[in-house]
Amino acid sequence: MIITIDGPAGSGKSTAARKLAARLAIPYLDTGAMYRVVTLLALEDGVDLNDEAALAEAAARGDYDLDLGPTHIRATLRGRDVSEEIRSMRVSDHTRFIAASPGVRRLLVERQQAIGRRLGSLVTEGRDQGSVAFPDADLKFFVDADIQKRAERRLHELLADGEEVDLAQVLENLRQRDRTDSQRAVAPLTVPDGAIRIDTSELSIHEVVEMMLTHIRRAGLQVPDAGQHDV
Ligand code: DC
Repeated sequence: MIITIDGPAGSGKSTAARKLAARLAIPYLDTGAMYRVVTLLALEDGVDLNDEAALAEAAARGDYDLDLGPTHIRATLRGRDVSEEIRSMRVSDHTRFIAASPGVRRLLVERQQAIGRRLGSLVTEGRDQGSVAFPDADLKFFVDADIQKRAERRLHELLADGEEVDLAQVLENLRQRDRTDSQRAVAPLTVPDGAIRIDTSELSIHEVVEMMLTHIRRAGLQVPDAGQHDV
């Protein structure tokens, strides 16, 4: 069973995807983490972020890995655990260059599809999972929320991680990412064909996950009994 969840930053899709995967007892893939590791790699190696060929080459030769745990993803770069570092504002401020690179996207989408083939079942989240990576997914969701709500959620996470940011900075970063995510030439953020739209502005994560489970059951897909897999 392949379930895709796409949507903008701060829409709540990552938390929903993690919890949904745990509830379904299947692996969860955070594809944003892939773009983030490649961003960190490019920054560390001083790769020109506007040089398409250099970015694609760095992504192809880069020594990085994602370890898919049951509820989180562990990212390593040259053997170093960078799971936290890839969430920093410094990385967030530069992912748009990596996400706009056709060469990097081709490579990462191929890796995502290979992971899907290998594991068989997956909850995968990103910007292009239902539209490009898994157009034949069993079920596709598109999760959104108003920008003020998304910024408040992001701010919360960043402050918890010890970053010194305020709401205005986070809002600006989100606006910029929304613009570049939806306007880029390759794989722009769009509602995939056949996707179920969920507006999470006024919903708790629990309500979002329950709503998804209802759709999954309705589609005739198997949902394990609650209890042992409930998180
Ligand atoms: O979801 P996130 O904030 O961790 O994503 C990080 C960046 O990667 C963001 O700029 C959007 C981009 N991205 C993408 O272009 N395609 C994906 N499938 C996932 C993320």
